[in-house]
Amino acid sequence: MDRIRIVGGNKLNGIIPISGAKNAALPLMIASLLTDETLILDNVPRLADVAQLQRILGNHGLDIMSKGKRPGDHEYQGQTLHISAANIIDTTAPYELVSKMRASFWVIAPLLARMHVAKVSLPGGCAIGTRPVDLLIMALEKLGAELQIDGGYVIARAPGGLTGAEIDFPKVTVSGTHVALMAATLAKGTTVINNAACEPEIVDVADCLNKMGAKISGAGTPRIVIEGVKKLHGARHTVLPDRIEAGTYAMAVAMTGGDVQLAGARPELLQSALDVLTEAGATITPNNEGIRVTRNGAGISPVKVTTAPFPGFPTDLQAQLMALMACAKGSSHITETIFENRFMHVQELARFGARISLDGETAIIDGIAKLRGAPVMATDLRASVSLVIAALAAEGETTVNRVYHLDRGFERLEEKLSACGATIERISG
Ligand code: EPZ
Repeated sequence: MDRIRIVGGNKLNGIIPISGAKNAALPLMIASLLTDETLILDNVPRLADVAQLQRILGNHGLDIMSKGKRPGDHEYQGQTLHISAANIIDTTAPYELVSKMRASFWVIAPLLARMHVAKVSLPGGCAIGTRPVDLLIMALEKLGAELQIDGGYVIARAPGGLTGAEIDFPKVTVSGTHVALMAATLAKGTTVINNAACEPEIVDVADCLNKMGAKISGAGTPRIVIEGVKKLHGARHTVLPDRIEAGTYAMAVAMTGGDVQLAGARPELLQSALDVLTEAGATITPNNEGIRVTRNGAGISPVKVTTAPFPGFPTDLQAQLMALMACAKGSSHITETIFENRFMHVQELARFGARISLDGETAIIDGIAKLRGAPVMATDLRASVSLVIAALAAEGETTVNRVYHLDRGFERLEEKLSACGATIERISG
């Protein structure tokens, strides 16, 4: 199994190109099931999760073609996928595939909307919490689907097709909103989603669905209205830049010091995180090409942060912020409100010497002057990258094990960081 070796202590200086967002690319690929025409997606990141979803969609009978580079494309430009669901040969998503990636459960929505039937394995728990799908099921039932659970599978039917309805989510859910949105595009009549997630990835998917002929308004606000249409058609859409990748590298620069341009990053997608970084002592300058992040001289100031749905501070940057605060001049508080078990990185950060204690859903981090490198590993994607951030600033050598977590969500991580002066390499085997 691959490992990553990092020798800490170098400042980061240079340009880091930001890839397409994983959490937009996945639902966009799934949305291709809604039409028998070709959906072309540009700037799809080359990630293990994308490859896994290609396998899952392939199992339903989709043709997926990845185009090579075109003249003038940037070296980090994501791939272009041509996805055709002209023939859906199988409406079952089996356990072996869904259990490898939770988001693949979302295929239930377009399959039900277009084929009026779907059999999808329940995804099960994961390292960051129990992550139930009750709200997704509730939304589909509101739209008229009959669902039953049998042998670990959700068996869903809507013999006469789905019907528009009012869906009130009791809590903000990204997965619930994606599923309701996709299902409602082909339902008869009007659907209103109340307390919808406002994440930029929802807006990106709604934009793409509208290009495909859907009639969606209000995406990006808590009330989304969808007028169902009979059929969707092919379209071409570019995946928006990954705000979590941008925020992660911004935290890395704040941690090591230096001066980095996050090329292609869009500040409005991560304003809450940029505000926290400014409070921590980094200088953030949005410009025409992205976001410039610098920290020179001054140390890191402690912060108090609570994760929240967009536009709040994202749970997907919580672990990275904790790594940064491990070296702050004072005591920081980070409260996790989205996932009940998203503190798996605490024990691993302690291996660098970080002083972190947990009080329920709040972590109290007492900053120390210097972390020291150590062999570490993590059980989820964002936790893994928090260890990379700690390692970049730590004294001495760190080995990050279980690199496949990083490969799920960070494209060419070692290349991007070493181009900015980090001593980082992948050790195969
Ligand atoms: C998405 O997960 C992201 N994944 C996560 O990114 C992200 O952390 C999360 O949204 C929050 O922003 C993708 O987009 C592929 P939710 P999702 O439904 O949609 C509870 C990463 O590292 N809930 O908004 O699964 C749930 O347990 C990842 O890239 C129910 O109770 O998140 C959680 O506490 C990990 N019942 C809360 O809602 C349900 O039916 C928010 O979950 C559904 C969710």
